[in-house]
Amino acid sequence: MFARFRPYYRYLRPVRIHFFAAILLGVICGGASGGGIPWMIGKVFKPFFENAGADRLGTWALVGLLTLIPVLIGVRCLALFLNTYLVAYCGTVVLEGLRGDLFAKFQRLPLGYFQKSRSGDLLARGVTDTQQVQQTLVTSANDMVVLPVTFVGAIVYIVYTAFTVPGAGLFLLGLGVIPICVLPIRVIGKNLYRRAQQAFAAGGNVSELLRENLSATREVRAFGLEERERSRFGAGIRRFFELQMKVNKYAFALSPLIEFITVFGIAGALFMAYRAQTPWNSVFAMITALYFCYDPMRRMGKLQSEFTRGAAALDRIEQVMKEPEPIADPAVPKTLGQARGEIEFRGVSFTYGGGTAEEVVLRDVSVHIPADSIVALVGPSGAGKSTFANLVPRFYDATSGAVLVDGIDVRDLRQADLRSNIAVVSQDSFLFNDTIYNNLLLGRAGATRAEVEQAARDAYAHEFIVSVLPQGYDTIVGERGTSLSGGQRQRIALARAFLRNAPILILDEATSALDSESESAIQKALQKLVVGKTVLMIAHRFSTLRDANLVLVFDRGQIVARGPHAEVYRSSPLYRGLYDQQQIA
Ligand SMILES: Nc1ncnc2c1ncn2[C@@H]1O[C@H](COP(=O)(O)OP(=O)(O)OP(=O)(O)O)[C@@H](O)[C@H]1O
Ligand SMILES: [Mg+2]
Repeated sequence: MFARFRPYYRYLRPVRIHFFAAILLGVICGGASGGGIPWMIGKVFKPFFENAGADRLGTWALVGLLTLIPVLIGVRCLALFLNTYLVAYCGTVVLEGLRGDLFAKFQRLPLGYFQKSRSGDLLARGVTDTQQVQQTLVTSANDMVVLPVTFVGAIVYIVYTAFTVPGAGLFLLGLGVIPICVLPIRVIGKNLYRRAQQAFAAGGNVSELLRENLSATREVRAFGLEERERSRFGAGIRRFFELQMKVNKYAFALSPLIEFITVFGIAGALFMAYRAQTPWNSVFAMITALYFCYDPMRRMGKLQSEFTRGAAALDRIEQVMKEPEPIADPAVPKTLGQARGEIEFRGVSFTYGGGTAEEVVLRDVSVHIPADSIVALVGPSGAGKSTFANLVPRFYDATSGAVLVDGIDVRDLRQADLRSNIAVVSQDSFLFNDTIYNNLLLGRAGATRAEVEQAARDAYAHEFIVSVLPQGYDTIVGERGTSLSGGQRQRIALARAFLRNAPILILDEATSALDSESESAIQKALQKLVVGKTVLMIAHRFSTLRDANLVLVFDRGQIVARGPHAEVYRSSPLYRGLYDQQQIA
C-alpha cells in the first residue's frame, strides 16, 4: 500500500523541513504516549500502594512527584498540536501541487479527450479526488511514523517491566492478540477498495449531473424538464449515498473490531495478574501500556482504510495523468516565426473517433491555398467545413495525410508557434466572465488601448460598447458572455481576432448572428483587414463570400469543386443550387 503512493511523496519535497519537524514532533508525542505515560503511572502510583505510616512522602516530595504529570502530558500535548498543525500545512502544499499538475495536464490534453469525457466528472477528480489523495498522503506519512513509535514504545515498556517487576511477566501474554488483528484489516481492506472506487465514480456522476443542469437552465425551463432533472439527480445522489454508506460500513467497522479483539488481551492479562498478585501500580502501568499498544493497532486499521480510499482516488487521477497526449510538440521543432500564410492539405483524411469508414469526415482532401488568398468554404451542413478549418491550428491531427503551413508540416511545429500565426472566430465563441476590455485583450496580450479600440471599431463593436453597455469597456460580460446578445458576442469575438492581427484568419460563421447592416459594415472593414492575410471563411450566407478569390465546395467530406466563383458556379450543380436558392430568397 505504501509503495502505491511512493511516486507522490515528491509533492512533499518543497516542505520537507516542515515535514521532518512534524515527524520529529510526532515521534516525541508517540514516545511520550506509548512509553512515557505508562512509566509515569508506574512511578506516580507507587507511593500510594507502598508507603505506609512513617514512610509517607513529605509535601515537597509529593509535589515533585506529581509535577511529572503536567510536564509529561504538556510535552505530549504541545508536540501533538505542532505535529498536527505542520502536517496540515504540508498537506495543503501537496494538494496545491497535485491540483496544479492535474490542471496543467488538462491544458495539454487533446480536444477530443474532452468530447469523450464528462466535464463534471473531471471536475470531481480535480476537487474531491485530489483532496482524498492529499489526506491519505499526509495522514499516512505522519501516522506511519507516530503509530509505530507509540506501538514500539509501549512494547518496550511492557517487555522491560515484564522482566524487572516480579509477577508482571504474564502481561506479555496480552500481546498475543496482536496477530489476530491482522486478519480483519486484510479482509475489510479488500472490500473497501472496491466500494471506494465505485463511490468516487458515483460522486463524479453527481457533479456531472449538477454541471449539466446548471449549464442548461434555460432549456430545462423551456421544455419543462424540471421533474425529469429532479428525478435524474435524485437517482444520482441516492446511488452515491448508498455507495458511500458501504464505504463507511467497512471503514468504520475496522477500528471497533480491533478494539473488541484487543479487549480480550486486557481481560486475560488482568486474570493472570490477579492470580500472580502483581503489585497494583505495575498493574495500572501495564494496562496503560497495553492500551497504548492496542491503540496504534486500531488506528493502523483506520490508516489502512485511509490508504484504500486514497488509492481509489489516485487511480482516478492517474487515469487522467496517464492519458496520452497525441498532439504534443515535436522534440526538435521547426521554426515558423511570422508565417506568410500559405496552407496546403496533402491527401488528408480525418475521422473524429479514429473509428470506422462511415465516420470519415474528410476523405483524401488535397488543396493548395496560396498566401494572401481569401477562401470561401461552402457546402451543406455537416459536409466537413469546420473540421477542415480545425485542422489548420492543429486542434486535431489528420488521421492520414498532412497539413502544411508555409510548406512545413504542422506536426513539426511548436503548437504555440503555429497558433500565434492564426486567429480563429469559431461557430460558438467563448467569452470569459471578465470585462469587455480584457476579453478583447486575449487576442493579443500587450496591445495598447488604442489598438484594442481600433479592433473594436473594425468589428463594428465600439459603438454598442460605449453607447449601450453601462460601463463601456469595463462592463463584465457574465458567464460565457450571457449578458450580451448573440450578435454583440460575435462582434467581440471578431474584434478579438482582428486585434490578433495574425497572417491566417479563420472565420467560421463569424457573422451569422449579425443583421445585414452591420454585416456589410464588417465586410467593408474586412476588405481592409485581410490585405496580406490568408482567410478561410465559412458562411452559409453567400453575400459574405463576395470577396473570395477561391471557392471550395464541400460535400460529404470531399472537395467537389474549386476555383473562382464564376467558374465554380458553372461547373458545380451543388454550388449553383445553393447559390441560386439564396438569390431567390
Ligand atoms: N467533435 C466531433 N466529434 C465527432 N464528430 C464530429 C465532431 N464535430 C463534427 N463531427 C461530425 O463531422 C461531420 C462534419 O462536421 P463539421 O462540423 O465539419 O460540418 P460543417 O460542414 O462545418 O457543418 P455546418 O455547416 O453545419 O457547421 C458531421 O457529420 C459531424 O457530425
Ligand atoms: Mg461548421
